[in-house]
Amino acid sequence: MPVLQGMEYVVWNCSQLVSLAGLPRPRIGPEMRELSIIPDGAMLVRDGRIALTGTRAAVEHDVSPSIKVVNAGGRIVLPGFVDAHTHPVFAGTRADEFEQRAEGATYAEIAARGGGIRSTVRRTREASEAQLAATSRKYREWFLRGGTTTIEAKSGYGLSLESELKILKVIQQLGAEQNLRYVPTFLGAHEIPDEYRGRIGDYVELVIHEMLPRVAQEHLAEYCDVFCEPSVFPTDAARVILRAAQKLGFGLRLHADQFSADEGARLAAEVGAATADHLEATGPEGLAALSAAHVQPVLLPASVYNLGSTHYPAARRMIDLGLPIVLATDFNPGSSPTTSMPMVLSLASTHMKLTPAEAITAATINAAYSLRRGHEIGSLEPGKLADFAIHDCADYRELPYFFGRDTARAVYIGGVSVM
Ligand code: NIG
Ligand code: FE
Repeated sequence: MPVLQGMEYVVWNCSQLVSLAGLPRPRIGPEMRELSIIPDGAMLVRDGRIALTGTRAAVEHDVSPSIKVVNAGGRIVLPGFVDAHTHPVFAGTRADEFEQRAEGATYAEIAARGGGIRSTVRRTREASEAQLAATSRKYREWFLRGGTTTIEAKSGYGLSLESELKILKVIQQLGAEQNLRYVPTFLGAHEIPDEYRGRIGDYVELVIHEMLPRVAQEHLAEYCDVFCEPSVFPTDAARVILRAAQKLGFGLRLHADQFSADEGARLAAEVGAATADHLEATGPEGLAALSAAHVQPVLLPASVYNLGSTHYPAARRMIDLGLPIVLATDFNPGSSPTTSMPMVLSLASTHMKLTPAEAITAATINAAYSLRRGHEIGSLEPGKLADFAIHDCADYRELPYFFGRDTARAVYIGGVSVM
């Protein structure tokens, strides 16, 4: 990320500096309601990092009167959202399937007849690296408008060695452009591609023996994910892939229990995954396993909403169990075509009964820890990277309250203005 040596400015006139300062670990239980808000707050940024936060009066006292000023205009300032589950590199859309679902078809029916993920795979295989990069740059703009500064970015629409590498290289290239931070995840086991239908064993071999070693060798991903679902990668196949990835040094994340109960959560616990994502169908046993193994749940209410379901994950029960939950968009062309974290916060409050404060904690500091970056991002504290957004609200609760709009007025990454 760009670091402008000698860069120094103060952000002030923040109605609320929502700092999330606190213990250096993911927040659990009642801690999720503690946002460490500084009313009429200010923040000193130096060389891309936060040097000081406090009330305007306190910070004013410590800086030279000639310092450059970013005036937040009486708006709230938040850490950039950390969107810890996205699929941002794909060709085409699935607006046709969206229409079919409106007419009554289900996501599973569409997938079974060759649509769904496989239809995006066909198009993504045909697209060049440059074409994919161009569309992903458009989506990058959308992420910024919602106040997101870091995304976890999965491959998974290639499903061949060559096409998976192509997608991961696009992610690498976009990350190098420094307008948004990317954490790359290899998701070669997202679906069984057309040419391997009925031969899942052969496809798992390809993932383990050809894809994973190349991705590791070329340092193209930090994490490995698998879509664990009885009709896609059942637990046994998922376990083999995750164990192979672990041996190569990848951290693990898992699409778990999106449609079928418990096995996914238990597998995530068994292999020591960093996160178990979705969990719409997870029951008490699965939640207990996650809790015992310190796996962070990543909840994706926008995909529940967009699939027209009302089966949201049991977020309140998870908080009661002391699980450090994370909220993310699941941005993808099928189940969740949104980049908007403000929309996700709204869904979290209306359908999962999180308070706005709990939702913001899940979308910032907890998400940062789920990506091993909690020491650098996710809160506004001295020493951390100056990744922040000025949102067009006076009170943080307005973020989920005025729903359906992307609220960021200005976004900074490593102290540099990117929007
Ligand atoms: O997280 N469930 C698997 N993967 C995505 C959907 C991808 C798609 O439909 O293209 C998800 O919901
Ligand atoms: Fe997903």
